[in-house]
Amino acid sequence: MAGAEYILEMLDVTKEFPGVKALSNVTIQVKAGEVHGLVGENGAGKSTIMKILAGLYSNDEGRIIFDGEDITKKLNARTAEHLGISFIHQERYVVRHLTVAEMLFLGIEKTKSLFRFMDRKGMIKLAEKMLKEKVGVELPGDRLVSQLTVGEQQLIQICRALMNDPKVIVFDEPTAVLAKKESERLFKIIHQLKKEKGVIYISHYFGEILELCDRVTVLRNGEKIDTVNAADVTIDSLVTMMVGRNILEQYPQKQRKPGETILSVKGLTHKKEFRDLNFQVRRGEILGITGLMGSGHDKVGISIYDNADIISGEIEFKGKKMSYISPQKAVQEKMGYVPDDRRGLGAIQKMSVQENITLACLKKLARYGIISYKAEAAAADAQIEHLGIRTPGRDAQTGNLSGGNQQKVVLSRWLSDESELYILNQPTSGIDIGARADIYKIIDKMARSGAAVIIITQDIQELYGMSDRVIVMYRGVTKLEMEIRDQDITNQIIVASMGGGAEDET
Ligand SMILES: Nc1ncnc2c1ncn2[C@@H]1O[C@H](COP(=O)(O)OP(=O)(O)OP(=O)(O)O)[C@@H](O)[C@H]1O
Ligand SMILES: [Mg+2]
Repeated sequence: MAGAEYILEMLDVTKEFPGVKALSNVTIQVKAGEVHGLVGENGAGKSTIMKILAGLYSNDEGRIIFDGEDITKKLNARTAEHLGISFIHQERYVVRHLTVAEMLFLGIEKTKSLFRFMDRKGMIKLAEKMLKEKVGVELPGDRLVSQLTVGEQQLIQICRALMNDPKVIVFDEPTAVLAKKESERLFKIIHQLKKEKGVIYISHYFGEILELCDRVTVLRNGEKIDTVNAADVTIDSLVTMMVGRNILEQYPQKQRKPGETILSVKGLTHKKEFRDLNFQVRRGEILGITGLMGSGHDKVGISIYDNADIISGEIEFKGKKMSYISPQKAVQEKMGYVPDDRRGLGAIQKMSVQENITLACLKKLARYGIISYKAEAAAADAQIEHLGIRTPGRDAQTGNLSGGNQQKVVLSRWLSDESELYILNQPTSGIDIGARADIYKIIDKMARSGAAVIIITQDIQELYGMSDRVIVMYRGVTKLEMEIRDQDITNQIIVASMGGGAEDET
């Protein structure tokens, strides 16, 4: 049989949404024992083809052959997993009030008689064991999912998928929410998996793609460009295939001139994430904050914008001591915050692209200000153009855009606003390489026009590409604070400090 070489074949798959041809005749063939990369710009069709495989969308044309059988007609949301295909979707469906154990066994409880007679304690124990075994993480089984980091929630989903013992497993941008160390752990898991399974791996990080994948399929505008051996390509050639042009320098030249201090944080202590944090940010400066998952770095931004979880310390903003900060007050004071969990918090999925873009909180507060529809439409169009947001139009529902394009919509809402301090939590996670360069330019411009910027990121390239100064946190305290001067030395020191290694430069 000609197809026996492949565990999975998606042949000439076509899919159209109203106003968007998401896929035209795309063929992807996956061998058992390989990691098959899938790359393409935001909106290229990567998630759509995987959702067809998951039975979440139906395809207009094309066939899907799995393990020698044509399953095109069989696929629906319930069958894919049973057939032996598991997914780590780009959208994380997290039920926040569940415990770790409940989340892990949700849905599985019913199908596996194993759980039927198990008591709560047993479930918790089993959950802890599974997490340790399958993804190498130790988490209390009775902890609420809402108290976990996004990365930890992701690991639970991966564990769930593995418990299903699939033949093919699909990862749609798994590392967009993982820190470096967690990503490395995931890569080990994937190396182990591919020995007996087919793995499909979607990512915007090309380093990862080349390190992990055996072959890579490139999509552009819903069309397949090619499938290549990872060993035969470079990052540059892959990027050129993907965007159809060369991408020049990613990071803007640092020509910023820091001015007076705008934010000063003294002894800031969070109820559980970090303690005794001290730092300042000046106007015209970009401060980068990083750390591994669990280091507390990802809670610093939100704690400045909303200090409900702060138990002691002081925040001084524009020369004023702030005894209490809520998001509303922060916005009045012209602080802007872009959350990392943009689908959950920031993106308002049901709203149109235009509504989202123009819903800068400042306008919301200006109750008596009247904004003309025309002006709003023009502002929305400008942002769509500016960030290259792929949408059928400004009236499209935001929830229907591709993951990366939704991120751009929410980002643009803040970038169009006139804050004096911007706190950006993972500003480019899930955003393709071309659009990333555009966002960097915008961030640089904000700083050059006198705003202070805090970028919280786990992407080390981005950290030193963008920051004038960085803070590295380790287990809830500042491990290192330094100016970015010599890139090579900085890189080493940052990586070492993230793991708790290097000493503070004083
Ligand atoms: N449910 C839907 N309704 C309408 N259009 C949709 C829907 N889902 C996807 N699309 C459109 O199909 C195209 C492909 O989207 P898809 O989510 O597959 O992109 P992607 O390659 O995964 O991008 P990203 O890197 O941003 O995740 C986009 O133009 C998107 O707007
Ligand atoms: Mg996607």
